[in-house]
Amino acid sequence: MVNGLVAALVDGLVAALREARRARGARRICRTGEPAEPASPSTTREGEVPVTGPPLLALRGISKRFGAVQALMDVELEIHSGEVVALLGDNGAGKSTLVKVISGVVPADKGVIEWEGRTVQVRSPQDAQRLGIATVHQNLALCDNLDVAENLFLGRERRRPGLLGSLCRLVDGSGMRREARRQLDELGIRIPDVRVPVAVLSAGQRQSVAISRAHLGEPRAVLLDEPTAALGVQQTSHVLDLVDKLRERGVGVLLISHNMGDVKAVADRAAVLRLGRNNGFFDVPTTSHDQIISSITGATSSA
Ligand SMILES: Nc1ncnc2c1ncn2[C@@H]1O[C@H](COP(=O)(O)OP(=O)(O)OP(=O)(O)O)[C@@H](O)[C@H]1O
Ligand SMILES: [Mg+2]
Repeated sequence: MVNGLVAALVDGLVAALREARRARGARRICRTGEPAEPASPSTTREGEVPVTGPPLLALRGISKRFGAVQALMDVELEIHSGEVVALLGDNGAGKSTLVKVISGVVPADKGVIEWEGRTVQVRSPQDAQRLGIATVHQNLALCDNLDVAENLFLGRERRRPGLLGSLCRLVDGSGMRREARRQLDELGIRIPDVRVPVAVLSAGQRQSVAISRAHLGEPRAVLLDEPTAALGVQQTSHVLDLVDKLRERGVGVLLISHNMGDVKAVADRAAVLRLGRNNGFFDVPTTSHDQIISSITGATSSA
């Protein structure tokens, strides 16, 4: 009884936060609503963008085995532009493996990746980048000894204009710092100085730098593997604001999280993996916390 009351209060609070986010202008897509159904067009609510045409990204029957471990089995997933899809599941459910398959880090054994309705080969992170897929992996992959601007441009450093850049291959440090500042300001990320090494930043700031780095190439899809796992309340809120901003810009976001509060606050739909298989798709705003948790724990199954 008391638990039920607390759960209802939490749901109410999350709904209020969600509404506040929406009131700040987040554009939302129409949602499909039904568990275990792929996304399809539905009625348009005020301020929402109708889903038409093929999904931005679709996975069809993806399987991946590591030795004796079947990490993924016939996994299906769709993400539309301007949509935040939460990918949920217990530890070891296969979430990070799926992200690695989409981002070209590990090859799938079986299955197809579609991009705007066309089958594509994603054999390397460069293939994913060329398509417009950016990933923030669970371990962030930032270089502690480099500063914020250097981390943002890692692997795509800008050269100085003219012969200095083309012949001497000199890096345009001030240009990158200016662009880093502009990018952080645009995303509302509060880091006073882009010349500080990321080692001295807080966990939330580091996460923001990693997301900002993913955003720098103007991606069409962003995959975030547990971006709020190590963060406090305020830092989590900043990261969720960033997710909202990506959606507003029409980016399709895949958000992995164990935190139902995060999911309720920003996700349009949720896909649950259990033991490497799909175990349900949910329309987040109209689905209760408990229904999604039951799917994660296996108390309910759509298999
Ligand atoms: N490179 C690998 N070699 C062998 N097994 C692996 C490898 N990568 C993942 N696995 C296994 O695949 C399964 C899925 O792992 P994965 O990291 O995708 O889970 P996850 O859902 O991201 O879990 P978590 O919530 O703990 O991050 C696990 O059993 C894991 O041990
Ligand atoms: Mg993981």
